[in-house]
Amino acid sequence: MFQKFQEKWKVGPAQLFIILLTFALGGTLTGMIGRRIMNLIPVDGIVWVIIYIMVMTLIWPLMVIVVSIPMGQFVFFRNYLARIADRFTRKQNNLPVSPNLNSPSTLVPSSTEKSSPVNLAIFASGTGTNARKIMEHFANHPYIKVALVISNKPAAGVLDVAKDFGIPTFLIEKEEFFRGHSYIPLFREIGIDFIVLAGFLWKIPPALVAAYPSRMINIHPALLPKYGGKGMYGRFVHEAVIAAGEKESGITIHFVDEQYDHGSTIYQATCPVEAGDTPDSLAGKIHLLEHEHFPRVVEEAILSQLVKNH
Ligand code: GAR
Repeated sequence: MFQKFQEKWKVGPAQLFIILLTFALGGTLTGMIGRRIMNLIPVDGIVWVIIYIMVMTLIWPLMVIVVSIPMGQFVFFRNYLARIADRFTRKQNNLPVSPNLNSPSTLVPSSTEKSSPVNLAIFASGTGTNARKIMEHFANHPYIKVALVISNKPAAGVLDVAKDFGIPTFLIEKEEFFRGHSYIPLFREIGIDFIVLAGFLWKIPPALVAAYPSRMINIHPALLPKYGGKGMYGRFVHEAVIAAGEKESGITIHFVDEQYDHGSTIYQATCPVEAGDTPDSLAGKIHLLEHEHFPRVVEEAILSQLVKNH
């Protein structure tokens, strides 16, 4: 059970212990203060019980937040409570449940707000250097706008990058995502036309691939079809390339299909693997290639789709 909580909240055993302690202390404080408040209310019987439950429900989140400050868990609990509020709002609006901190109303533009023909969503799990380059590239673009940044990791650096550019973010939840269809209505409602995977490490479910045919692009830090597939990301790719004694590596930008790192190639660029290269030095060369080419290739792919559709 504890393992499940660690995976769900993405925390280690020590932090899980502090979180559970915070819940317990927050609950105790709620009980103590709740009883004091009830002593001031002159009612009895079932009315007392109803008011007591209401008081406890109202002050519990506050008490947990108060306790979380000295326990050093304020950020976790602030996000936790925001997720509960978000789930509630989504249930009310029949939208897919997500742990995202943005409310749906900030994500969904009204139809009159959709001023550019193409709304782009960036999916990323990591620091987001590629995402940043893409945001810079499209910052003043007449036809293409980065409308949303989606991540599967609450602490991903890409979420801060999005904040720098004032772009809304959306945190997806594993079970919902792999259910396949769950997020498609939301993406449609937001008006997402095109998806770019910029270091996104989950496999895209077939239903989502099918919803964006030739409108979902991935970047991979090697020359596919070599060194792709499950577990082949970031440093692991560069380690494998060096271990195999390759003289050349590079980047592959490709459309996404139902297999990892597989759809048709749009663009490749190469760099030498020199004697003495380490996974870090190779990663540096690959990042330079990615930053140089990815935004432009994405732009060309989107514009060629636009042309095809008119
Ligand atoms: C990039 O190098 C990208 O090619 C890789 O993740 C990195 C993300 O870096 N993607 C994969 O490995 C996908 N299989 P970033 O967060 O600095 O943009």
